[in-house]
Amino acid sequence: MIIQTEGLTKYYGKARGIIDVDLLVMEGQIFGFLGPNGAGKSTTIRTLLDFIRPTRGRATVLGLDSHRDMLKIHARVGFVPGELALYPKLTGEQFLHYMANLRGGVDWEFVRELADRLDFELERKIKSYSSGNKQKLGLIQAFMHKPELLILDEPTGGLDPLVRQEFYALLKEAKQAGQTVFLSSHNLPEVERVCDRVGIIREGRLIAVEEVAALKSKALRHLVIVFDGPAPVQDFINLPDVRDVSAVNSHLRCTVAGTLDAVVKQAARHTVVNMISEEPNLEDIFLTFYGKEANHVS
Ligand SMILES: Nc1ncnc2c1ncn2[C@@H]1O[C@H](COP(=O)(O)OP(=O)(O)OP(=O)(O)O)[C@@H](O)[C@H]1O
Ligand SMILES: [Mg+2]
Repeated sequence: MIIQTEGLTKYYGKARGIIDVDLLVMEGQIFGFLGPNGAGKSTTIRTLLDFIRPTRGRATVLGLDSHRDMLKIHARVGFVPGELALYPKLTGEQFLHYMANLRGGVDWEFVRELADRLDFELERKIKSYSSGNKQKLGLIQAFMHKPELLILDEPTGGLDPLVRQEFYALLKEAKQAGQTVFLSSHNLPEVERVCDRVGIIREGRLIAVEEVAALKSKALRHLVIVFDGPAPVQDFINLPDVRDVSAVNSHLRCTVAGTLDAVVKQAARHTVVNMISEEPNLEDIFLTFYGKEANHVS
């Protein structure tokens, strides 16, 4: 187990940070930690890394106690915080050298490769970098020593689409190399795209943990079937897991929860001209967990 928390709870005075979070992240996974602003993502991450102490509960990272073995953990983890604090007067390169020395040296060729791929100019002063470029610097310092575990707190904010793609490629390569990734996000398509498992946190509580594939299979699909004559609505309204059946002329629309099997078999009794199925959307699943509050999630 790469990350394990038990009853992890943090109150800031009386204010809720996180409550009773039980997390398991297994080796080699890309685990997405999904939740809207203020849900408790950064609080969880800061607790894992011992930047703040939990009110109660405990955490182990790489099998080590998050508090007692904090230094050992930091040596083996790459971390991008939600809010980066950097040294404005250094250049990007000087900062990375400084971090690399703290880590007892890294493969500088790899640093150059990372900078190249993320389209990052190493030689400029940190204070002159845009926020997206600061974010890239944060990513480079997290990846540069090829850590066993990457803990990334909303790493893609501020990155443009091309750089984001390159970052996703880096994640994939990290996974292939056996590294584990714990990544927080409030962006559903992103998690859907890059993660194996997702934990959903809401108002400080972990409300669901699922394989991304399982979530998708539960998702609602919107289906349009076009027949060669008037749509046979009656055949579809009583099918299991099928709702919202409506028809206009030859077009039948419905929403299917689960597999399409029953619908396809029913449709096959007629002549089907076309069939359009929208990709199951995690947004629908998310809505069922979050209800109205999903409006806060982009
Ligand atoms: N230093 C602090 N003092 C008091 N309350 C805090 C502090 N840090 C966080 N909180 C509160 O704890 C809760 C969780 O915040 P946290 O920063 O962990 O959320 P988050 O999921 O990372 O949100 P975001 O997506 O905005 O980064 C919020 O209600 C926040 O107001
Ligand atoms: Mg945060």
